[in-house]
Amino acid sequence: MFIISLSLFKQVTGYLLFSLCTAVIGSLQFGYNTGVINAPEQKLRSFFNDTWVERYGTPISPGVCTIVWSVSVAIFSVGGMVGSFSVGVMANRFGRRRSMFLVNSLAVIGGLLMGFSTICSSYEMVIAGRLVIGLFCGLFTGLTPMYVGEVSPTPLRGAFGTLHQLGVVVGILIAQVFGLEALLGSAKLWPLLLALTVAPAVLQCILLPFCPESPRFLLINLKQEEQARKALVRLRGSEDVSKDMQEMKEESAKMAMEKKVTILELFRSPAYRQPLLIAVMLQLSQQLSGINAVFYYSTGIFKSAGVKQPIYATIGAGVVNTVFTVVSLFLVEKAGRRTLHLVGLGGMAISALLMTISLLLKDIPVMSYMAIIAVMMFVAMFEMGPGPIPWFIVAELFSQGPRPAAMAVAGCCNWTANFLVGMSFPKLVEWCGPWVFLIFMAFLIFFFIFTYLKVPETRGKTFDEIARSFGGDGGGGLTSSSVEDPPASASTATTLPASPV
Ligand code: GLC
Repeated sequence: MFIISLSLFKQVTGYLLFSLCTAVIGSLQFGYNTGVINAPEQKLRSFFNDTWVERYGTPISPGVCTIVWSVSVAIFSVGGMVGSFSVGVMANRFGRRRSMFLVNSLAVIGGLLMGFSTICSSYEMVIAGRLVIGLFCGLFTGLTPMYVGEVSPTPLRGAFGTLHQLGVVVGILIAQVFGLEALLGSAKLWPLLLALTVAPAVLQCILLPFCPESPRFLLINLKQEEQARKALVRLRGSEDVSKDMQEMKEESAKMAMEKKVTILELFRSPAYRQPLLIAVMLQLSQQLSGINAVFYYSTGIFKSAGVKQPIYATIGAGVVNTVFTVVSLFLVEKAGRRTLHLVGLGGMAISALLMTISLLLKDIPVMSYMAIIAVMMFVAMFEMGPGPIPWFIVAELFSQGPRPAAMAVAGCCNWTANFLVGMSFPKLVEWCGPWVFLIFMAFLIFFFIFTYLKVPETRGKTFDEIARSFGGDGGGGLTSSSVEDPPASASTATTLPASPV
């Protein structure tokens, strides 16, 4: 056991960590831009009003102001849907590293648009900026997990996969702190708060040229065997990368040189049906768990449960969020993805029930404590599994050919569900009152059953073993019940062409 951990530890080189941290700046950006808009709401509303007065000589009506505000918030998710859907095309065309580099230009454009909106007296620039930033974040929710999954050693793919979510939660926390009135959340400085996203984008562009392209992309997509070997040698800190190389070559050979798979082919091929269903359902389980209902509206939830200082409870939730992502990072390779996802969904369902009870009985003083505990538990359980796992498991469920298309579909489902929950939650509260979290509880129970019946454990399996388990021979020894046709081309190729180097 000790020897295994030691050899594992040896694979974690400074260069690998550097490359992972550089990629995870994209996750940080996603979290930051998700959280940043909440704090300065009132400041933005007054800016819309000032612009209106300047243009038309009358104050903006409350209805129009709310529309402009809602559009500024929601258009981010629309950008996210489009961006995440474009991941496949970009990642295949430009590679993983160059795509990340190019996509950062969107952060610069979006950040500048929002940053200069007050100087130009244009609320349209805020809206346009949020759209561009949404596109940017949508692309990164695919690119980062894909790159991280492809450069990580197999036994640590889950732990490193969780880094994406860690980046997201830290980004949310930074946005919450920077958004405080005393820092950048003031009437004067909010444009800077929104434009700050340019800084990490520039930083990532400076660092990316020092990171390797994904060795899997080099070998399987570009057939550059020597370059792939060189990248692996640096990443693993050892000349002996024959095991990794062998594994990638086998994957490549089995998948008939891993032809790029389009989104249409992904839907058509029976071989991908089962993993695609699992990928999409896991993304939906993340969003329909109701996590963003808590993140977007937690202060209101605490207030209605009778909590005296709701803002502190909200910041507390942000801290719990971060701590439990770290817990999951350490557990995921021991407990496995499936178990943690089940524990997370089950725990969230119980927390949703407790939340409902505390909202129903809010007149009893002790119930406000129960509300706080229930929300913290809800968030903690989310980060155990449903937070991090869906993001990286998609990269695991698919081999090189279909991976980018699958990430695009899964990411787009995630963003769409996120949008729907964000938009409909206030209306649902109006209709259901304190019962609202029972809707999420029902979803959680449904996804628990689905995960129990359908989701295989992918821990410690190579990409090839996982793909094979869906491909027909059950080679990965996974628990999935699917026995489907292998990809049409799977048996036609057994060798790799000579390296073009
Ligand atoms: C996940 C979700 C995101 C949510 C965050 C909260 O990354 O995709 O929508 O806001 O977790 O930690």
